[in-house]
Amino acid sequence: MLETKTERIVTPARNIIGTLRLPGDKSISHRYALLSALAAGTTKLANFSTGADCASSLGCAAALGATVTRRDDGGIEIVGTGGALQPSGTPLDCGNSGSTMRMLTGLLAATPHTYTLIGDASLSRRPMERVRKPISQMGAEITLTEGHAPVTIRGGKLTALDYTTPVPSAQVKTAVLFAGLQAEGTTTVHESVRTRDHGELALRAFGAHVDRSTDSVSIAGGQPLTAIEAVVPGDISSAAFFLCAAALFSGSNLVFDALGLNPTRATLLDVLTALGAHIGVLNLEEKNGELVGTVQVNAPSNGLTGTTISGALSAQLIDELPVLAAIAPYTQNGIRIRDAKELRVKESDRIALVANNLRAMGAQVEEFEDGLDVPGGQQLHGAEINSGGDHRIAMAFSVAALKATGDTVIQGAESAAISFPEFYELLDQVAER
Ligand code: S3P
Repeated sequence: MLETKTERIVTPARNIIGTLRLPGDKSISHRYALLSALAAGTTKLANFSTGADCASSLGCAAALGATVTRRDDGGIEIVGTGGALQPSGTPLDCGNSGSTMRMLTGLLAATPHTYTLIGDASLSRRPMERVRKPISQMGAEITLTEGHAPVTIRGGKLTALDYTTPVPSAQVKTAVLFAGLQAEGTTTVHESVRTRDHGELALRAFGAHVDRSTDSVSIAGGQPLTAIEAVVPGDISSAAFFLCAAALFSGSNLVFDALGLNPTRATLLDVLTALGAHIGVLNLEEKNGELVGTVQVNAPSNGLTGTTISGALSAQLIDELPVLAAIAPYTQNGIRIRDAKELRVKESDRIALVANNLRAMGAQVEEFEDGLDVPGGQQLHGAEINSGGDHRIAMAFSVAALKATGDTVIQGAESAAISFPEFYELLDQVAER
């Protein structure tokens, strides 16, 4: 948990220019950390996420009996338990990380032990029934406190499940697959929108057989996992802040090396292209099932146009919506977001915070239960931003601040470290002032 509350002043920029190689993807790092604890052998990971969230997953892996070593070169080695996760004498601390808590619920469901999962104040407000329901149907005993953490799990013998996720959620899908791996029979998850598929790809990388169709994923229980060696691709959701920043300044030129380009994560590139930005992708390679490549972004000379994001697009862009909304005033025709009610149950109520902070910067914005209308053609001014302790809000408004008139003060700027501790340093590196 991050204790110190810091404010950060972001001054306007003239341009965004440079080359970045970003720390590893948060979603992939979580999955590799958790599966390595279950696997047999030593998993070696390079470019693991530097965010506090993934440190929570590693901390839980260690509490479950895996031996976690951070090497001097930044690499991480995890000696797995070979399927024998250990009891933990203390509650498993998931910090701010919903991914850790939800995926662990699936991972622990088959153990003969009882665990308690706890988190910080924000995580303790987030809905956990979505994961309790399917995993308890498989045979684990799970109790919540009014639908929230602490989560108590008494593992047991699991039977396979055929489950349709009521709300698109990669965390829930992955939790069910992690439990399915340890259940008797074949577990299938159906989803109406294809959410990020890192869980499926990670399970395959660790040696499990996973079947996929257009809208479902199946896994047979009883498959052992074997340790892997992997370089985690750069985090495209962290790149999103810089991609959006670069898209605002004509004359910008930003290149990302070794960026994760999994198609279930790269929708932002399509949206930015639709808004008029020029995006180039080079050197595409596949590693452990994940696509990695070089991405170059240049802004259009006459500004970004505008768009509507709704339906499946909203689910696929869920982590990128705050920054898209934050740059929307600078577009010509604005950005309209719908079908994004899930934003209200993230690390904060991201719809309310985005609307309030845009207003603080002088923008007109209309808030809906499931989205926002942000008209274009608006010049923002510097203001005091309330991040609500939410990393993506702090970073989204740091981007909006680059094109504002006057300085912006980001309250709770330290929250960026939840996913991206290097954010401000890299911003200063690429922002010309
Ligand atoms: C994630 C899935 C998404 C996303 C989160 C990471 C994952 O959450 O918002 O940042 O790694 O599976 P939901 O599963 O709640 O949609």
